[in-house]
Amino acid sequence: MRIALYPGSFDPITMGHLDIIKRVYKLFDHIVVGVLHNPKKNTLFTPKERTDIITNVLKAEKLDNCVSVDSFHGLLVDYTKAKNINVVIRGLRATSDYEYEHTLALMNKELSSELETFFLMASNNYSFVSSNLIKELFPFGADLKNYVHPIVMEAMKKQLS
Ligand code: PNS
Repeated sequence: MRIALYPGSFDPITMGHLDIIKRVYKLFDHIVVGVLHNPKKNTLFTPKERTDIITNVLKAEKLDNCVSVDSFHGLLVDYTKAKNINVVIRGLRATSDYEYEHTLALMNKELSSELETFFLMASNNYSFVSSNLIKELFPFGADLKNYVHPIVMEAMKKQLS
């Protein structure tokens, strides 16, 4: 089975993330969306909440038969080794993402020589969308329907009320 890991914080998942999933799932037998549990990072949603939101979004988009969700903590390479996964998917929005992603990919390769990182360019519509921007704009009532799934919108309303 060709399995790929799509790791991230997903706090929350955006349409940009979903776009990457929709474009990449056809190229593999299975995609695992890996939600990072980093206790040192302040997040809007707990890892369980983020995992549940993604699970519901995948179900609503009828992607749940080929894409699953898991959470992990610690090193990404420890997770991929434990799960026998050799491919990591990352999206690239602007050139500003490049430096960090370059370091991440090269260090992961140092730590696990079998691991390959595949990059997808973010679609034009989403190249400026980030979870942080969504969290910043949401409390001011900005119209975000093109950038987050209705399930995410509901979860954010509940969380911030
Ligand atoms: O959505 P993000 O926050 O950009 O995702 C970053 C992520 C989760 C891919 C990265 O922080 C990660 O892999 N963290 C796990 C810890 C780890 O392995 N760090 C070393 C990478 S060289």
